[in-house]
Amino acid sequence: MNKNNISASRAGEVSLGGELSVNRVGFGAMRLTGEGIWGPPKDRTGAVAVLRRALELGVNFIDTADSYGPYVSEELIAETLFPYPRGLVIATKGGWNRPGPDQWTHDATPSHLRKAVEGSLWRLRLDCIDVYQLHIPDPVVRFDASVETLAELRNEGKIRLIGLSNVTQEHIERARKIVPIASVQNRYSFADREWDYVVDYCQHNGLAFIPWFPLGAGKVAGEVLNRVAKAHGASPTQIAIAWLLRRSPIMLPIPGTSSVEHLEQNVAAASLRLSEQELEELSEVPELVASR
Ligand SMILES: NC(=O)c1ccc[n+]([C@@H]2O[C@H](COP(=O)([O-])OP(=O)(O)OC[C@H]3O[C@@H](n4cnc5c(N)ncnc54)[C@H](OP(=O)(O)O)[C@@H]3O)[C@@H](O)[C@H]2O)c1
Repeated sequence: MNKNNISASRAGEVSLGGELSVNRVGFGAMRLTGEGIWGPPKDRTGAVAVLRRALELGVNFIDTADSYGPYVSEELIAETLFPYPRGLVIATKGGWNRPGPDQWTHDATPSHLRKAVEGSLWRLRLDCIDVYQLHIPDPVVRFDASVETLAELRNEGKIRLIGLSNVTQEHIERARKIVPIASVQNRYSFADREWDYVVDYCQHNGLAFIPWFPLGAGKVAGEVLNRVAKAHGASPTQIAIAWLLRRSPIMLPIPGTSSVEHLEQNVAAASLRLSEQELEELSEVPELVASR
């Protein structure tokens, strides 16, 4: 595809909480950090170029978290893109900390979430965060207490919309009794369909679904993916993204990359159209794996 024709807008838009609309191919900024999602990126100039190019390609939704780096991803976004262009939505998260490379510790206590939101506001140079996501429920904190804290921060004008991540339908239903929920972010791809029912729930209730790790893994998935990719003259990654876009109109993929070339390929997937048969073939991958 001609690079001038690549645009995230080709995937159409998705509503966030009925208040904001963004193009349906976003960018996940977790990979703009060092090895193990720890420390600064090896190639800072390259990371800055990826962020700038994402905006040129019509990406207007960037997903990040205070724990990416920690802080590195949020800081890099602000250093590169502030003052932000009109319409750019930055979605960040809190409640899951990163004490060292490849390590995660929970803290979704009300006191920590308050500090986390203040920290993200400061690093992102914002008065109000468009989308703030609870990164993951904390097993030793009452889930309602975490959500109630985010609801309070919303009432205080520090958060515009609230999202959840790594949750079940029960979590979403409990949260929605406390405060409107705009989005859900869970691991999901054509080959990884544990959260199919949550996607359906989100579609039914008008919530955006943000799949993370959207690239399918495994041998069977690879075989099907390569076949469909060849037919379209596309890469397997592009087909994985195209499947997501086709799966539901509330799907908002956020493929992550540290490479401008990969970014361009990922956003170009917004223009791919899978046939009904290809959609079905890819959708059947989990059953194919189970039957082998
Ligand atoms: N809520 C959560 O708990 C959670 C967890 C994980 C991630 N996330 C979010 O989801 C986003 C996406 O997830 P992810 O980064 O783990 O997974 P991903 O987007 O599925 O995959 C990223 C990996 O694929 C490679 N890649 C990307 N585009 C490619 C292309 N066109 N061709 C070949 N390789 C390509 C990247 O390497 P290169 O850098 O070399 O391109 C990177 O190693 C993250 O950035 C983050 O914002 C959220």
